[in-house]
Amino acid sequence: MSAKRKIVITGGAGYIGGHLTGLLLENGYQVEVLDKLLFGDVYVRQYQDHPDFTFTLGDVLNIADLARAFRDAYAVIHLAAVVGDPACAKNPELTRLVNVESTKSVVELADIYQVQRLLFASSCSVYGVAPGEVWLNEGSYLNPVSLYAETRIESERIILNGCKHTTPTILRLATVYGYSKRMRFDLAVNIMTLKGITQSKVMVLGGSQYRPFVHCQDVARAFHTMLEAPTETVSREVFNVGNSDQNYRIKDLGRLVAGTLDVEVEIAQEREDDRSYRVDFSKIAWLTGFETIREIPESVLEIKAHFQDGDFKDYGDQCYYNVRYDYML
Ligand SMILES: NC(=O)c1ccc[n+]([C@@H]2O[C@H](COP(=O)([O-])OP(=O)(O)OC[C@H]3O[C@@H](n4cnc5c(N)ncnc54)[C@H](O)[C@@H]3O)[C@@H](O)[C@H]2O)c1
Repeated sequence: MSAKRKIVITGGAGYIGGHLTGLLLENGYQVEVLDKLLFGDVYVRQYQDHPDFTFTLGDVLNIADLARAFRDAYAVIHLAAVVGDPACAKNPELTRLVNVESTKSVVELADIYQVQRLLFASSCSVYGVAPGEVWLNEGSYLNPVSLYAETRIESERIILNGCKHTTPTILRLATVYGYSKRMRFDLAVNIMTLKGITQSKVMVLGGSQYRPFVHCQDVARAFHTMLEAPTETVSREVFNVGNSDQNYRIKDLGRLVAGTLDVEVEIAQEREDDRSYRVDFSKIAWLTGFETIREIPESVLEIKAHFQDGDFKDYGDQCYYNVRYDYML
């Protein structure tokens, strides 16, 4: 039997999970991905010949699927979810099941199978709407304004209150951006980049709201950092994941993306999303040494290069937009 530590990643075939799987394989872990493959199998095909990679086509709502995967696991990284406000609003019943009920099963089975670490992908959207210039940290008041954010908070509490033997750590991710083989064109930086490339114009609605951003590869690095951090540093801790320098007002983000692509920017008065939160990321840096390495302009150009290589000829396809997917029970 391999002496390598086995890490289970639920939702490991997704936008973030694909990067995380590759990074953990490179760092000598055995990785088992448990995923329903809602958005395709590009990452499963990429890693399927790796001797330390296993894939299980399964559902986090199915306890038997979880139990099979958790056997002999050192850690579980729980990413599988209905992701994003619009996708969650479309099917609230399913969202509650996948985003909250599955967390209860994950916690229970992690304890039963003596999994040592449980890392959970929460979101900075739990901060919701905060007054203008305030900096939010892990102790700040939570003010969720969407079902998605509510389900992240509920899951955080289920994990922190429910884990007995397993060491839990919560990662509250900034809004993610950047290129992934399972691409998402429903995330702010990526949408703006798509519009800039395909319409030679970046359009922004409203725009005074603050939002923090982080690259999908940096998110993968943050999970890896947490996995290797001393237990006493991360046990029952909540960490914002991002970089304080990558908080932008949405209109400034529009200008940055447009400027990078050398296209026009149009800022309309109406806003479609009231969430506004400016987040402090010093805790993760202080306690674990984690720092982001990717930045928005070079990531925008990376996405553009993939376009030019013909990777996204079908950029309107539903597989790139979580909300367009028809989630079924
Ligand atoms: N992308 C972001 O901006 C962001 C920000 C904060 C937090 N997060 C969190 O990170 C995690 C991953 O997000 P992502 O952007 O990679 O999303 P994604 O939609 O690309 O990945 C989710 C994966 O989960 C799988 N999945 C969905 N329901 C499942 C089920 N019932 N059983 C098994 N697999 C299932 C999907 O097939 C998909 O591969 C989520 O938990 C999300 O809440 C993401």
